[in-house]
Amino acid sequence: MTLLETDGLTVTFGGLHANDDIDISIEPGTFVGLIGPNGAGKTTFIDAITGFVPVSDGSVHFAGEPITDLAPHDRAARGLTRTFQQLELFEDLTVADNLLAAAETPAWSDFVMDIFRPGRVSAKMADVVWALETVDMLDWIEAYPSDLSHGQRKLIGVARALAAQPKLLLLDEPAAGLDTAESQALGARLRGLLDHGITVFLIDHDMGLVLNVCDDIYVLDFGSVIAHGPPDEIRQAPEVIAAYLGEEAAEAQEADAESVRNLGGGLPK
Ligand SMILES: Nc1ncnc2c1ncn2[C@@H]1O[C@H](COP(=O)(O)OP(=O)(O)OP(=O)(O)O)[C@@H](O)[C@H]1O
Ligand SMILES: [Mg+2]
Repeated sequence: MTLLETDGLTVTFGGLHANDDIDISIEPGTFVGLIGPNGAGKTTFIDAITGFVPVSDGSVHFAGEPITDLAPHDRAARGLTRTFQQLELFEDLTVADNLLAAAETPAWSDFVMDIFRPGRVSAKMADVVWALETVDMLDWIEAYPSDLSHGQRKLIGVARALAAQPKLLLLDEPAAGLDTAESQALGARLRGLLDHGITVFLIDHDMGLVLNVCDDIYVLDFGSVIAHGPPDEIRQAPEVIAAYLGEEAAEAQEADAESVRNLGGGLPK
């Protein structure tokens, strides 16, 4: 059964169609990517399927059931967990406490609770240990964020979401700020999540990462899906090259493959 499916999903902010009639389906046990230029609507799409922004039209089904009208914590309780694009670790808490934080501070606002304790399921120590083991960071459980490299901090961010025991993990730019080697290492760890029965949906601007780790990729531009397919097709798709490099590059590619090589070879191999 399809794990997540959107049908005609549309989100409008005033007159702007941030997501416009999006049909996406994610099969269990697959690694699916979502790419697109800045402002294409990628974060809005995760916000919509996790319930952080209202949908103007269309529907979302998770494991065959409609979830379009559920609150974020009810969706999370079913196994839909996300990370946030800008969320940082608490510097004065250990890694363990960063993962446990919300469970022990019930006075925090609902918003923070939804981030750290999706589903209001207590992130018990066993879940924390499992999450850290899964990203191979258990040795750092008592460390402070300042002890960690940028790449390790990103892994802790992923572990914080994993502690909620998701079925589908939605990652919003987990590789932002990483160098190529760190990004590749992160990709290998994320790919390993499939072995733990976790399906992964990845947004990232690092095209090398996305093209390497994903089985299936959707491309958004101006809120609409402009291409969908396996990495090899996406790499070649003229509409994708146009969205990233501009129309001129796409026309040049059609006219003369050599001129595109001069522009930087299209999308990374
Ligand atoms: N709460 C909001 N109110 C009004 N407009 C919004 C809101 N959130 C997003 N937008 C607009 O919706 C569009 C899509 O934004 P979104 O953040 O989803 O893009 P993105 O693909 O995630 O971009 P980036 O790659 O920069 O993270 C943009 O034009 C943005 O300005
Ligand atoms: Mg975004």
